[in-house]
Amino acid sequence: MKITIVDHPLVQHKLTLMRRRETPTSAFRQLVNEIAMLLGYEVTRDLELKPKQIETPLEVMEAPVLAGKKLCFVSILRAGNGLLDGMLSLMPSARVGHVGLYRDPKTLVAIEYYYKVPHDIGDRLAIVVDPMLATANSAIAAVERLKQGGAKRMKFVCLLAAPEGVEAFSKAHPDVELFAAALDRELNDHGYILPGLGDAGDRIYGTR
Ligand code: PRP
Ligand code: URA
Repeated sequence: MKITIVDHPLVQHKLTLMRRRETPTSAFRQLVNEIAMLLGYEVTRDLELKPKQIETPLEVMEAPVLAGKKLCFVSILRAGNGLLDGMLSLMPSARVGHVGLYRDPKTLVAIEYYYKVPHDIGDRLAIVVDPMLATANSAIAAVERLKQGGAKRMKFVCLLAAPEGVEAFSKAHPDVELFAAALDRELNDHGYILPGLGDAGDRIYGTR
């Protein structure tokens, strides 16, 4: 299993608040936004830099700036959009792609209903975001679709991962690095993560 758990105290504290049953939609949404910035900071840690000549008020200097094409965040709809907003406040000029998928509640198979990413996705680092990696059917399908669309370099960021999902994902896409705020215990019979935080989409958008 190849996974980085972001164990920063702020991430862990915010995650605990999100897990609590009594946390209301408004607070949950705010917390997703904040935790996304912290995860975004970690997942972009190894971005390449290049020197650029600039002028400070006092002299000319060679200063580091990000090298290469702007990266692309890819949100797995709909819960991925919660993470996307926070990541975009960190990197406002990043490109954005969307993959629309929902889990069939009976079979847990991921069904695609939307796909739109930048035409030059193959030249960019794609950071795929979705709060939950449960069976990993959605993540595996999204990354598969992105590879078909030309994506070559990808990372996957979630809040919670289940061991079953990490194993399946690593088997299907060993080239894609995983980042999570926590690795939880297991899946229940309905494919929900335990102890988890419930249905991420419902908690972000208040649909249940
Ligand atoms: C949730 C979640 C993931 C998926 C994870 O989405 O946001 O996309 O389930 O489960 P998996 O790893 O077993 O595929 P859901 O299908 O509930 O759709 P939504 O985001 O539209 O609510
Ligand atoms: N999707 C969710 O939103 N939550 C889970 O626990 C599993 C899949």
